[in-house]
Amino acid sequence: MAIVHLVSVSKRYGATVAVEDFSLDIADGEFVTLLGPSGCGKTTTLRIVAGLVEPTSGRIRFDDQDVTDLPPRKRNIGFVFQTPALFPHLSVADNIGFGLSVKKARKDQIAARVDEMLTMVGLSGYGARLPAQLSGGQQQRIALARVLATDPRVLLFDEPLSALDKNLRDSLKYSILDLQRRTRKTAIYVTHDQSEAFAISDRIVVMNAGHAEQIGTQTDIYLHPQTPFVAEFIGANNGLPGKVTGTDGSGDDERSVVSAGGLTLRARPRAGVGPGDEVLVYLRPENLVVLPDGDGAGYDNVVDGTIERVIFEGPTAQLRVDVAGRELRVDVSGGRRLELIQRHGRVRLGFNDLTLIPVTAAAAPPPTS
Ligand SMILES: Nc1ncnc2c1ncn2[C@@H]1O[C@H](COP(=O)(O)OP(=O)(O)OP(=O)(O)O)[C@@H](O)[C@H]1O
Ligand SMILES: [Mg+2]
Repeated sequence: MAIVHLVSVSKRYGATVAVEDFSLDIADGEFVTLLGPSGCGKTTTLRIVAGLVEPTSGRIRFDDQDVTDLPPRKRNIGFVFQTPALFPHLSVADNIGFGLSVKKARKDQIAARVDEMLTMVGLSGYGARLPAQLSGGQQQRIALARVLATDPRVLLFDEPLSALDKNLRDSLKYSILDLQRRTRKTAIYVTHDQSEAFAISDRIVVMNAGHAEQIGTQTDIYLHPQTPFVAEFIGANNGLPGKVTGTDGSGDDERSVVSAGGLTLRARPRAGVGPGDEVLVYLRPENLVVLPDGDGAGYDNVVDGTIERVIFEGPTAQLRVDVAGRELRVDVSGGRRLELIQRHGRVRLGFNDLTLIPVTAAAAPPPTS
């Protein structure tokens, strides 16, 4: 078990910045996921923690020990890769015991540990098989058992489920979480799959172009995205460029008035955002409510639109609604979706929860002088 510190870690490959000034403290026993699009630097960051990639600058510490200059085998980490990479000619038992035999553990101790690990991953009785005699999911569980057998301080996972089919991914992600909880090991998990990240993490680091955009719990990053990238990458979101024009009400009822996409909208005020500021306004599709008889009581915002398209997705229906010349996505679930899939033409939408994100000076067009 260990507290893991990444301190201002950067990695450059020539002109490519793979990781930039990345800092993160991971608590003992915490499960942290690095989530982001392809090429954002997840694998590089993980491999720097493992010692498989040398950072251009920055330090890695496990508890109070600086491990930056230690080779991987001296860091006592367990690394689970996308593919199980088991030794094909060794039995399952010998694969699991491999790390211990390298450390010259006694044969009977190795055998006992292998049995314990097989039971832990739910595959006791499979020790004599060869890897080729296992399914893909079973192989990945053996890879996990092999990693856990040496009792590593930190568990590192690089997309361990992405080669498996969806049903297997869904069940194995909970097996991984369960094993991590039972062994109380600090874990860093890399994925580009949001639902996976949401299901298993204590905290999520949303990465973009080599840096951490936002670090927080699932609800933090979903309900309170801090940057346009997070608002657009996590879940679906309707984004409108706008400008704060004033404020309205006071106390709990205080609202920022925002002119966005030809609409005048009211949003809960956000610290540091005031009249005159350029903002991006985000509306989650599930927060837009189709008002049955046009009654907008209880909503800060009521807008009229025209249903352009209805997409039935099973548990939800997605409506594409033209509002003042902009298409908004509206997600409807429950029995209402069945009524709405028949419907076309005018609708009235009510909604409260808007997210305002300031357009930073850096992102604004340069002044023309
Ligand atoms: N050995 C290398 N040499 C040069 N560039 C590299 C090397 N390894 C990674 N990169 C670059 O660094 C960036 C980050 O790569 P990385 O593999 O960390 O991304 P990732 O987030 O894991 O992506 P994916 O989801 O596709 O696995 C990319 O632009 C990649 O091309
Ligand atoms: Mg990767």
